Amino acid sequence: MNYSLILQNISEIFIAEDLSPVLKGPHLLIAADENGKISFVGKSEDFRKTEPGFETKFKDVIVDAGNKAVFPGLVDSHTHLVFAATREDEFAMKSRGATYEEIAAAGGGIINSTVKTKKASLEEIVEQASKRLSQLVSYGVTTVEIKSGYGLDTESELKLLTAIAELKKRFPVEIVPTFLGAHAYPPEFKNDHEGYINLINNEMLPEIKARNLAEFADVFCEEGYFSLKETEKLMLRAKELGFGLKLHADEFHSLGGTELAAEMGAASVDHLEAISDLGIKKLAENGVVAGVLPITSVFSRLPFAPARKMAENGVTVALATDMNPGSCMCGFLPLAASLGATQLKLSVEESLKGITINGAKSLKRDKTKGSIEVGKDADIVIMDSSSVAYPIYHFAHNHCEKVFVKGRRIVG
Ligand code: NIG
Ligand code: FE
Repeated sequence: MNYSLILQNISEIFIAEDLSPVLKGPHLLIAADENGKISFVGKSEDFRKTEPGFETKFKDVIVDAGNKAVFPGLVDSHTHLVFAATREDEFAMKSRGATYEEIAAAGGGIINSTVKTKKASLEEIVEQASKRLSQLVSYGVTTVEIKSGYGLDTESELKLLTAIAELKKRFPVEIVPTFLGAHAYPPEFKNDHEGYINLINNEMLPEIKARNLAEFADVFCEEGYFSLKETEKLMLRAKELGFGLKLHADEFHSLGGTELAAEMGAASVDHLEAISDLGIKKLAENGVVAGVLPITSVFSRLPFAPARKMAENGVTVALATDMNPGSCMCGFLPLAASLGATQLKLSVEESLKGITINGAKSLKRDKTKGSIEVGKDADIVIMDSSSVAYPIYHFAHNHCEKVFVKGRRIVG
């Protein structure tokens, strides 16, 4: 057998499996085969039994973890990191107490980004997004969902999705593209909701499908954005065309979107700060992941989603950044797990699962990503700490030291 990576001298591994998520060392070892798939996880001495003399035989692919803790590549399952301009002017309004809805009413918000995104060239958008994505990778993120949604016309939405496709070519990480044309009504359709829904359903979605530019379709179901009925029309059409479904729901008001998306078999419903008890029950019953975004709650002064209650009622909880220029200008995913363990009352293990295996479930990538198990991709992060808890306990600091994707080193 040949190997792409033999990582030895590991203190602890967050394997992220359900029953006992942490493997304690010392002297643990992970091996990846020549295709970059994990072929062994366990004690060095056990590996030696099947590969005697591996230290000399495979010395070219051996990496010493320095008695540090190892994680699966982190999964940021909800971002809007492709956009053209930042909005620190609105941040100043926010600092004086303005709400998200007041800022939107004053011409800010999603539409403000849309105006700038329409004007920017594809190259400019890719350059800006590359910089943000490099930052995420330096934190240990190896799988990331990226949404469109700042174009709001066919040409501009295609431009954003093309930018995401370009990022896929430039970065060795797993990028999952989501179409969010239903992020807001553009000004020209303010009084013609049906017209915009028809544009999405009859023009944008089929074109995006034909060009294979998105895997999921998403809608912002909220007062002042897309109503429950409108959301249903959009999700039905997306499902009919073969897109996976995601939904922004219950951020400010509970309109029934969560319940509907759960019944329609969405991969995840995200935000959920104002989720109802029925919504929690429906997510659990239908095995739909809750995408909780605690950094957005901090940045936008929103209540935290009731993640503890969700977990206790059998809902799979993913934690993501929501990185976007309005409600959460932060892509530091480990912070979402720190807030999970401090503000959401999730355990350390639940919080870490939120940014690994549960994120992978929300992107339908859990067969290949999100945990350290034999047969999965060797997407692995070494953190500069001896325990798996430390990187989220010593919070808001980047502890990531080395990152591997499919057994190949990409950071450190
Ligand atoms: O997920 N809630 C809707 N959309 C984004 C915010 C986008 C923006 O303000 O630019 C979010 O929080
Ligand atoms: Fe979002």
